Amino acid sequence: MKKQRNIPKKNNKQSNRPAQKQSGRGTRTDARSAKPPVKKAAPKPKKPKNVTRADTPHTQTIQWFPGHMTKTKRQIEKDLRLVDAVAEILDARIPNSSRNPDIATLTAGKPRVILLNKSDMADKRITRDWISALSSETVRVIPVDCKSGRGVEKFVPALTDLLSDKIESYRKKGMLNPTMRVMIVGIPNVGKSTFINRISKKNKAQSADRPGVTRGNQWFTVARGFEMLDTPGVLWPKFDDQTVGERLAFTGAIKDNIMDIELLAIRLLDLLKELKTPEFIERYSLTDDDLTLPSYELLAVIAKHRGMLISGGEADTERAAAAVLDEFRAAKLGRITLEFP
Ligand code: G4P
Repeated sequence: MKKQRNIPKKNNKQSNRPAQKQSGRGTRTDARSAKPPVKKAAPKPKKPKNVTRADTPHTQTIQWFPGHMTKTKRQIEKDLRLVDAVAEILDARIPNSSRNPDIATLTAGKPRVILLNKSDMADKRITRDWISALSSETVRVIPVDCKSGRGVEKFVPALTDLLSDKIESYRKKGMLNPTMRVMIVGIPNVGKSTFINRISKKNKAQSADRPGVTRGNQWFTVARGFEMLDTPGVLWPKFDDQTVGERLAFTGAIKDNIMDIELLAIRLLDLLKELKTPEFIERYSLTDDDLTLPSYELLAVIAKHRGMLISGGEADTERAAAAVLDEFRAAKLGRITLEFP
């Protein structure tokens, strides 16, 4: 159960189901719902009439316009002066694409805890590889599943370890119980609110008489001696590389309604055909021959196996695309990590 706190809450439950064209659809992106990063959505690409998927290129340009990027970055830079450490939340399935490339520069030498969130949906072995690759003297990496709370209990010990020298130096100066402050950063939808709801204690920290604490900034207690800035720093990924946009779209971090979901599902099937997870094969009753088909044909096969047909008995590939994406996002096709260290 999430604790109710005073952090931006989504208005709508996400439904990534592109086939449903009600208001709920694709409305979740946290920054997606609270402060939409999508300033100007590109119109959804239309499939030209009388042209089949076999004739069209299977790529699309995914755009995400970070309207508030500069302002937010400035605010984060300002707030960073008040904290001793940064907690950076990444999606364990796409640790590279779900990170803001400027974070290292922004946090400039601050000790960091990287939380590989949604690790319940990621491949365990690859998560271990990421932990080794990202860990360093000033960076601790912990896999977490904020939805169930698994791994979250390791956060405070990791911080204590990371900041032990600093805590010790304060103690030597006579401050017996120094308070360490932490700031959370992460891209929209990576799980910042879920994490905050998990670890926050009921009472907000009192900020009134503490030097350096900006009026208006709210802090909450994470554990004895640790406080966290209430407003999570929302950063955006970089889209210079189209695979970044694509992977964020696969995992549901970008609204479906700005994309051609059939093209997206076809691209995802390109990967799933290679990975051949037992869950994927069984769920769609696929044969070895099916797995050798071009992905646009495989999508039609999946539609037929699922009984998703339109009048005339043709495969309803749009519905099948929505199903494949939904089921991938719910980890029903296996625990899949799309990026390697
Ligand atoms: P944000 O603040 O960074 O934008 O992300 P937020 O916490 O709102 O989480 C975005 C979605 O990711 C939520 O799903 C949340 O439940 C889910 N989520 C967060 N952490 C984990 C995790 O470790 N594992 C899994 N499987 N999911 C996680 P939602 O569909 O928007 O809402 P709801 O279904 O939880 O109500």
